[in-house]
Amino acid sequence: MAGVIRKLIQNPVTFSKFFTSHSVGINANVAAAQRLFSTGATHLQREFVLTEKTGSKKNIGLITLNRPKALNALCDGLMRDLSDAVEEFEKDREIATLIITGQGKAFAAGADIKEMQTLTFAEVVTGGFLSHWLRVSQCRKPVIAAVNGYALGGGCELMMMCDIAYASETAKFGQPEILIGTIPGAGGTQRIIKLAGKSKAMEICLSGNQFSAAEAEKMGLVSKVLPPDQLLPEAIKLAEKIGSNSKIIVGLCKEAVNRAYETTLTEGLNFERRIFHSTFATEDRQEGMSAFIEKRPPNFQDK
Ligand code: CAA
Repeated sequence: MAGVIRKLIQNPVTFSKFFTSHSVGINANVAAAQRLFSTGATHLQREFVLTEKTGSKKNIGLITLNRPKALNALCDGLMRDLSDAVEEFEKDREIATLIITGQGKAFAAGADIKEMQTLTFAEVVTGGFLSHWLRVSQCRKPVIAAVNGYALGGGCELMMMCDIAYASETAKFGQPEILIGTIPGAGGTQRIIKLAGKSKAMEICLSGNQFSAAEAEKMGLVSKVLPPDQLLPEAIKLAEKIGSNSKIIVGLCKEAVNRAYETTLTEGLNFERRIFHSTFATEDRQEGMSAFIEKRPPNFQDK
């Protein structure tokens, strides 16, 4: 039976005929299934992203954007694979923290221009183009971007959807959409202004100029700039440090920090205090404070 299913999904025409349907949903599932089986590996592999459990406790979910010939341009298939990978690691109880990085000389050079070139207004509106890009920003677990090279357009936006960004000294950033007759569509105009203020946001979005990792750090877009060979080890070290804390408290803390983006200071402070209060309902809060007083490391149980 598995062989029959594999044959069907390797041939979308047969697959579609089999189900006597040509609906968008079926075709999307065919594409996803084909990507999953494309390597012929015994376990499920994705076409456009590599996933790996890493770190000394194998509790870090590493996602590598893997379309290096196109500088990891964020085609629809890649974004769907990325969403699936985030979903998989989010559900995996062993995984504490996620890291996203890129294969080759780019983190991601933006949305796929070749894929977008012929789209019409009606198609992007009715198809909700880019609406599924939000998955990374909705992840309940912390996500670190390890920016190894170009982070342009959607690549820069993807980085800003992550909670923390480390960058290689060689990384280049920018929102060059204006140069190809469009504007950022996945948070560029909204998130840069919150990090770097209006003047910088306008300069970046209206000029399309690229900027360096050092400038990105100065603006607060990334928190650390590292030599290329230290980027991933340092991101993993940070992910492990975060992973040594209680998962439940880390999740609550992430929620509180993110609330600052969405609300007023007074609302945010009230929300934070309530979340702080709610930590007193957890065993890990009790364990953390007891461990401090007893001068021993805490043994969090994620409860
Ligand atoms: N979409 C599709 N293909 C892309 C791409 C993109 N965003 N960026 C690079 N590629 C492809 C190139 O077409 C090229 O493919 P071929 O070999 O088949 O020609 C390959 O990747 C290598 O690229 P280059 O030869 O251009 O490499 P380079 O080193 O000379 O230049 C670069 C690198 C400066 C990043 C240049 O590729 C570039 O400017 N890319 C486009 C950046 C961009 O405009 N991004 C914004 C996209 S729109 C967007 O992201 C909207 C949004 O908000 C979501």
